[in-house]
Amino acid sequence: MAGPVESKFSPKDMEFRNLGPSGLKVSVLSLGGWLTYGGTQKGSIVKDCMQAAWDHGINFFDTAETYANGQSEIEMGQALKELAWPRDEYVLSTKIFFGTGRKEPNTRGLSKKHVVEGLKSSLARLQQPYVDIVLAHRIDVATPMKEIVEGFTQVIRNLNLAYYWGTSEWSAAQIMEATQIAEKYNLIAPIAEQPQYNAFHRQRFEVEYAPLYEKFQYGTTIWSPLASGLLTGKYNDGVPEDSRFATNSAVFSDSVKQLQTEEGKAKIEKVKKLTTIAEKLGGNASQLALAWCAKNPNVSTVILGATKVEQIVDNCKALTLLPKLTPELMEEIEKILDNKPAPTPSYGRSR
Ligand SMILES: NC(=O)c1ccc[n+]([C@@H]2O[C@H](COP(=O)([O-])OP(=O)(O)OC[C@H]3O[C@@H](n4cnc5c(N)ncnc54)[C@H](OP(=O)(O)O)[C@@H]3O)[C@@H](O)[C@H]2O)c1
Repeated sequence: MAGPVESKFSPKDMEFRNLGPSGLKVSVLSLGGWLTYGGTQKGSIVKDCMQAAWDHGINFFDTAETYANGQSEIEMGQALKELAWPRDEYVLSTKIFFGTGRKEPNTRGLSKKHVVEGLKSSLARLQQPYVDIVLAHRIDVATPMKEIVEGFTQVIRNLNLAYYWGTSEWSAAQIMEATQIAEKYNLIAPIAEQPQYNAFHRQRFEVEYAPLYEKFQYGTTIWSPLASGLLTGKYNDGVPEDSRFATNSAVFSDSVKQLQTEEGKAKIEKVKKLTTIAEKLGGNASQLALAWCAKNPNVSTVILGATKVEQIVDNCKALTLLPKLTPELMEEIEKILDNKPAPTPSYGRSR
């Protein structure tokens, strides 16, 4: 009798959380490829970054059909092939909606046709028979919700191209509608949302989505946890040449302009104050910003972005700060941020 398959994954001191109501375990830190893999970074650096993540206990990797018009999936897929980790030891997601830059009426959106054909094309680029999770990268207002839910049910139930599906930047009302349609017609409901969430971007995650966590244990795979680098402190004194705001200047022209405004300057002041707290804890601003996200129990996983191996090594140390975020310290951080969204009023009623 053959022995068991050798395990290549070592979780180290990583924490794993269930992705929403599912049994799928994702590392609380994960790694994504937006603007980086297939964008500014190609070839061995992609593999090196993914290996570094894996070596720190990260088991979840995220991409999308639209990232670098498909090149992100090609680069990350090639890296996965060369790394040759056992497929049952890692979790992979991609996202469908924006297409790969083509402008024909049916090469983007969430029609049943594009959900099926888009995902098949993604899988071909990834050199994978399936992804664990496929996400609807935005809502498609031109496709009936029932067809959207049917499309994702079809790729899971009939075509075995994914195990679960989720949403990205959908409103809470849209997620509720999809869930209710799934229940009514015996279709498959989405399990997680991929929203932006960081210390400077809180309203929707903390307030609008609150009923989804309570009613459906809806999961979240959050993006831009460092506000594209602003929370690292790297933009405190301008825009470094090799930073995202410079290397993707067309995408971030408004962010660069904002740095000069009163609002932008106030954010930098907050980053400086957070840096002082982080250093007292034995860490840095990036690690504190990431730990702050992970501290929220409604975050299933914090998706990191990284152009360099060193950033991954640095960012994974956020895990050591997590247990140091006591209620008193969270209160101190709250005072600095001064942006806590008001909850939906309950008029003195509670359960
Ligand atoms: N669903 C959606 O609509 C959506 C949208 C955006 C992103 N996402 C997903 O979320 C993932 C993460 O988002 P993100 O990349 O915006 O995350 P982020 O953490 O806010 O920004 C990551 C960028 O910050 C810089 N950085 C990271 N760690 C650093 C460190 N320790 N020191 C200095 N600089 C550091 C790097 O850029 P430079 O080195 O270039 O400065 C890195 O690429 C994406 O890859 C993607 O998978 C999803």
